[in-house]
Formats: sequence, C-alpha cells, structure tokens
Amino acid sequence: MKIIMLGAPGAGKGTQAKMLAERYGIPHISTGDIFRANIKNNTELGKKAKSYMDAGELVPDELVVDLVVDRIKNKDCMKGFILDGFPRTIPQAEALDYALNNQNEKIDYAINIDVPDAAIVERMSGRRACVGCGATYHVVYNPTKEEGICDACGEKLILRDDDKPETVQKRLDVYHEQTKPLIAHYEKKDSLLTVDGTQDIEVVFAKITEVLDR
Ligand code: AP5
Ligand code: MG
Repeated sequence: MKIIMLGAPGAGKGTQAKMLAERYGIPHISTGDIFRANIKNNTELGKKAKSYMDAGELVPDELVVDLVVDRIKNKDCMKGFILDGFPRTIPQAEALDYALNNQNEKIDYAINIDVPDAAIVERMSGRRACVGCGATYHVVYNPTKEEGICDACGEKLILRDDDKPETVQKRLDVYHEQTKPLIAHYEKKDSLLTVDGTQDIEVVFAKITEVLDR
C-alpha cells in the first residue's frame, strides 16, 4: 500500500503515519524527520535545510525530490510506504508520479487530515518531538509516561525550533499557498481520502483504517 499524508503543519500527519506504518508493516518516511536528523548530525544537507526550516519556508525541491525517489526504491518499500511531508509542492507531486509511473505503480491513498488553522496554533505550542525516533507527543492530548522522555526510544524530547507561534503562522501561509493545491491533484487521480482531524487521535485513526482495510 502506497500512502501519502496531506494536511497543514500540525494536522497530525506524523502521529497517524506512525500508527499506520505499524499496522500495515510498511515504513514511515518523513522528510521533516530526515532533515531534522541531518541538522542534528551537522551534515551538508542539514546545513542547507536549516535556514529554510527555521524560517518556516519550504526547502527547495531539488534538495528533497531525489532523496525521496531514491528512498522509496529501497527494499523495505517493496510492500509499500507512507510518505509524510512529501510531496509538498506540485512539482514534487509530479516528480513522484513520474517515478512511480516508470515502475507501473501509483499512490493508493492520499490521506488529507483536515484541521482549521485556529486549532493548529494551539496544538503546536504543546507538541514535544523526539529527535531520536521522530515520535511526536502533546503535553495535553498525547502525553508521555515520563515527562520529557520518549515512550518509544527513551531519548529526550525537544520543542521544535519551528514551533514558535510566528513561525507556525508562516508555515500555515506556505501550506495554503504551495501545498493545499495537492488536494485537488490527488482528487483528480481518485486517491484522495479526507478525514476530519479535529477528532481524537484514536477516532481519526479508526476513520482512516476503516477505509484502508476495505
Ligand atoms: P515537517 O516536519 O513535515 O512539518 P509539518 O508539515 O509542518 O508538519 P508537522 O510535523 O509540524 O505536523 P504533523 O502534521 O506531522 O503533526 P503531528 O502529528 O506532529 O516539515 C518541517 C519543515 O521541513 C518544513 O517546514 C520544511 O521547511 C521542511 N520540509 C519537510 N518536507 C519538505 C518537503 N517535501 N519539501 C520542502 N520542504 C520540506 O501533530 C501535531 C501535534 O498535535 C502533536 O503534538 C500531536 O501529539 C498533536 N495531535 C495530533 N493529532 C491530534 C488530534 N487528533 N487531537 C489532538 N492533538 C493531536
Ligand atoms: Mg510531522
């Protein structure tokens, strides 16, 4: 099953993608997590991506497209994958379509998690993220067992640099301008599944799996 997660920053793409990856036994590939790991390890890619991410801007397409197209050729993607945070622009979506087309494949579901902007800003201020494994938590909606420590891998949790309110607003603007048009792109291809993302995490998950299990 080949899935992409669509939705505004903070809509819950990462939260749902992790749960779906576990249920269907396919890898969760988050471009944001890949960039954050590169920043942590001070790689050339990390150095290039950091200024864009801190400003709430998108990293240029040429830094992300080949990375993802190569990644999905890995053996662990034979049964499928979940892309979280990619594609994010029409050129990225077209590059992905082209790469899959060449292998006679296509995206099965583009899952659009729909959350209004007003709810996003509140969610982001309470988010805590693990740089070790990419898990995300929320101080109120999805707390860890031990404060500040990742349940999954035991590493320390951080507040993401781009979760400051002014950067969140910029990321929302960028989303509306550059990423939202992807909803129509996947609707045309008959692969769009829109879910109300303001419901509880478990309810959102149940609504998605109800369709994917059919
Ligand atoms: P990325 O890491 O992808 O960030 P994003 O799209 O802005 O999305 P987030 O990770 O912030 O949110 P999410 O939807 O995963 O929500 P989460 O599950 O954490 O990208 C970061 C940056 O990297 C970009 O700005 C860009 O610069 C760059 N980048 C990445 N990919 C790129 C690309 N393809 N091209 C160019 N640049 C790229 O949930 C949010 C919070 O809400 C959590 O605290 C969670 O616990 C809580 N929550 C989740 N669901 C619910 C619920 N149902 N109810 C209540 N709380 C909930
Ligand atoms: Mg995420």
